[in-house]
Amino acid sequence: MKLEIIILAAGQGTRMRSRQPKVLHPIAGRPMLAHVIDTAHALQADRIHVVIGHGAEQVRETIDAAHAMEWPVQEQQLGTGHAVAQAMPGVDTDAMVLVLYGDVPLIRRDTLQDLLDRAAGEVGLLTVMLADPKGYGRILRNSRNELLAIVEERDASEAQRAICEVNSGILCAPAARLNEWLARLDNDNAQGEYYLTDIIAMAVADGVKATGVCAQDPIELSGINDRLQLARMERHYQQRQAEGLMREGLSLIDPARFDLRGDLKIGSDVVIDANVLIEGKVVLGERVYVGPNCCLRDVEIGDDCVIAAMSHLDGARIGQRCQIGPFARIRPGTELAAEARVGNFVEVKKSRIGTGSKINHLSYIGDTEMGAGVNIGAGTITCNYDGANKHKTVIGDKAFIGSDSQLVAPVTIGEGATIGAGSTITSDAPDHALTLSRNKQRSLENWKRPEKKG
Ligand code: UD1
Ligand code: MG
Repeated sequence: MKLEIIILAAGQGTRMRSRQPKVLHPIAGRPMLAHVIDTAHALQADRIHVVIGHGAEQVRETIDAAHAMEWPVQEQQLGTGHAVAQAMPGVDTDAMVLVLYGDVPLIRRDTLQDLLDRAAGEVGLLTVMLADPKGYGRILRNSRNELLAIVEERDASEAQRAICEVNSGILCAPAARLNEWLARLDNDNAQGEYYLTDIIAMAVADGVKATGVCAQDPIELSGINDRLQLARMERHYQQRQAEGLMREGLSLIDPARFDLRGDLKIGSDVVIDANVLIEGKVVLGERVYVGPNCCLRDVEIGDDCVIAAMSHLDGARIGQRCQIGPFARIRPGTELAAEARVGNFVEVKKSRIGTGSKINHLSYIGDTEMGAGVNIGAGTITCNYDGANKHKTVIGDKAFIGSDSQLVAPVTIGEGATIGAGSTITSDAPDHALTLSRNKQRSLENWKRPEKKG
């Protein structure tokens, strides 16, 4: 049987108090709706329909649809039943329809597959037991524990409100029957809305089996309505990711202080210390250590590297056995060959650093080609920008740059060249020679310090 998934995402999300449509607020750096779409793809849906309304254009443009999707628009939010009805003209009548919610982002593929399996081509409803069921639709069952209906809180009697099994909102039904039931919905209820939930009682009346599947993990089914719930879901998602990675063999010193917004691949025996943020695509080789408070984004780090505390690496490739930080900043387009060292308060941008070269203290290296075995003294600056254009610095193998030097690009420092400390180098320095630009030191014997008057 074909599977078509309808994701409801037309609501405004008033309680977020945001100009941004609710479904675009991020979980782990991606719009919550994108997570739901991923899950829909993981179920191998034949077609995905996202019902949009509030901020429709913005939602459609933001969601980078790698796969073709349908975007039915619900102009007015007249209820969940009305929302599903907007998508139905695009759904094959012989398909199974699964309804998901753009603001219930952590629903897992397996939970949904189980629902579809147990519904077996008829109606399935995902429910959940809540200690505090306030605000949710309550599940009515008969004495044989079979589903009878859903009653919304505002339409429920005192006795019905005491029921703790609630509607998650997620359900599946065969398209042809769903079309019939949706056509029969009315808005004669407390909210004056067309309730999708009313189809359960219709199914029961029509003798279609409706199976209520009670989910194990209530958090998975929680919706996001405000920023408190958003933050709670973020923590839950991060915990889920951290646990998955630890099972793969990652050591997280404190899984509660780890954030992954993207994709992390790890070799064996990687250790990540407290408060690390990983973004984009990050690959860590074997035995890499990442110290506390580091941010790594779109980086590949080779085996046996040490990234010490407070370092920020973005868009870089780091070879094996490199040592970086503490307090290092590595910017996009940087490549470090094996055993290179970038120490504290050093910024490296769009540069290639050769094997074993060291930039240990307080330097800026930008737009530089650096050979192997180079030693950069403390406080060295490549002056790569003349106010209009960027220029390149080339430093040959085994060059030694004395502390507090400025290399004014474009400039080439030869192989084995030595630059005297405190030099401003404005033209090329030859191989193996000492080059320096420095006033000769002198001492004034008769000089007197000024004295305080009066
Ligand atoms: C709904 C269910 C309730 C369930 C709860 C679970 C109905 C009538 N009630 O209530 O039984 O316990 O979800 O969270 O279905 N939406 C649209 N268009 C609309 C209305 C809603 O796209 O016209 C979308 C919203 O953006 C949201 C979702 O549908 O993502 C649910 O709508 P909401 O108004 O939050 O439903 P609840 O009142 O919470
Ligand atoms: Mg509502």
